[in-house]
Amino acid sequence: MRSRGLAVLALALECCQQALRCQAEDEGTCPAGSPDCGLGEGGGDEARCDAWARSCECQLDPEFMLRHCAQSCRLHGGHCVDKDASCQRVALGKRCTPDQWGACPKLCKLHRAERRRIREGGKKTKKKLEGSSQIKEEKVKCVRKETRGGLQDTSVATMFERIEQSEWAKKYEPTVLSRDPWIIHFGRLLTEQEVADLRAVAEDSRYPWVPSALEGGQSAEGHRTSESLLCTSGDCQRDLRARQAHLVAMNITGLGLPAHEFLQMVRYRSGTYHNEHFDTDEDFGSSAPGHRIYTMLAYLSTVPDGFGGETSFPRLNLTVPPKRGSAVLWTNVRADNPRKRDSRAKHASLPVRSTNARGERGEFTKLAMNLWFHGYVVRNQPPECFTAPAGY
Ligand SMILES: *[C@@H]1O[C@H](CO)[C@@H](O)[C@H](O)[C@H]1NC(C)=O
Ligand SMILES: *[C@@H]1O[C@H](CO)[C@@H](O)[C@H](O)[C@H]1NC(C)=O
Repeated sequence: MRSRGLAVLALALECCQQALRCQAEDEGTCPAGSPDCGLGEGGGDEARCDAWARSCECQLDPEFMLRHCAQSCRLHGGHCVDKDASCQRVALGKRCTPDQWGACPKLCKLHRAERRRIREGGKKTKKKLEGSSQIKEEKVKCVRKETRGGLQDTSVATMFERIEQSEWAKKYEPTVLSRDPWIIHFGRLLTEQEVADLRAVAEDSRYPWVPSALEGGQSAEGHRTSESLLCTSGDCQRDLRARQAHLVAMNITGLGLPAHEFLQMVRYRSGTYHNEHFDTDEDFGSSAPGHRIYTMLAYLSTVPDGFGGETSFPRLNLTVPPKRGSAVLWTNVRADNPRKRDSRAKHASLPVRSTNARGERGEFTKLAMNLWFHGYVVRNQPPECFTAPAGY
């Protein structure tokens, strides 16, 4: 596409520091709707970005599009689906023909990414081997890095008040459940398509389900019997169905992707639960990424009233029923001092029951998605840096 080449050139000339910072931090993505992130808003090329997004360029060329047209991809990219039955015949490992690109952009994109991964995987291993002695001697440094929408420019109260007061947030149907500490319920966080896409991620055989980690060890505190899907593999990180959830979260919290942990899903079948626990450790406040300042828990299935599965905040006398497409967003830290954990954020997932109070029986599964947000950059931080204090 020749016109795109020109756009890249124009962008390179106009490139502002913000955009550069944003590209570096976001590995090619920008928070949706950020005016200083490429051609979307303010770049003067919104119409072109929109047109590309409508013609499936976000799927065809995500690297370029997410960097320069993030907003357009968010608005229009979701409409691209593989409608054509011939997509089933696209063979893995083979290049897609131009016709196939037109009919099956998602699949062709996935296959291309897979081929590239295999190719680059080979190269990287070689490089690493050559420099391995140096890498070993390097000591891990935990450095706190600020990111767009993080605690340095948006306080906890500001973030929640913005949701409560903004027109744009109304479509998510927010209801304030608590102002101290802040908890907001969204009647409609995800569209039916977004729920369906996330449920497809949950069933994708490339992403395994594992028993959820026992945070409370053998003690009753934090004990859980659920299963989790950790979206940490390269495939899952690149999966646009999962990425869309991050884009929604970015729009609501204003926090750039670098502050998001990778998405996790959690599944509770009949009889399973997660006892009272916190989402952040008391000493995370001084670590490089800081606390998990917010949790967004979105429900991907409905458990009917009376069959349990509610998210309960026992210290606030609050429960939230799992309803498909809805969500709850809360803070785990104190609004007046986000270095400190808020002990009232303790919560539990009540057991899913197979019998209600009237003795009626039913088998229900609670499927939910967790997103955790930090006040500072968390992606690409070495695991040690979750606990080690910043600056060491
Ligand atoms: C979310 O998107 C809307 C436009 O769709 C925008 O007006 C709003 O500022 C965005 N929210 C944040 C926090 O960036
Ligand atoms: C908890 O909430 C329920 C209903 O929402 C109410 O009936 C009850 O009195 C409350 N308990 C306390 C201790 O506030």
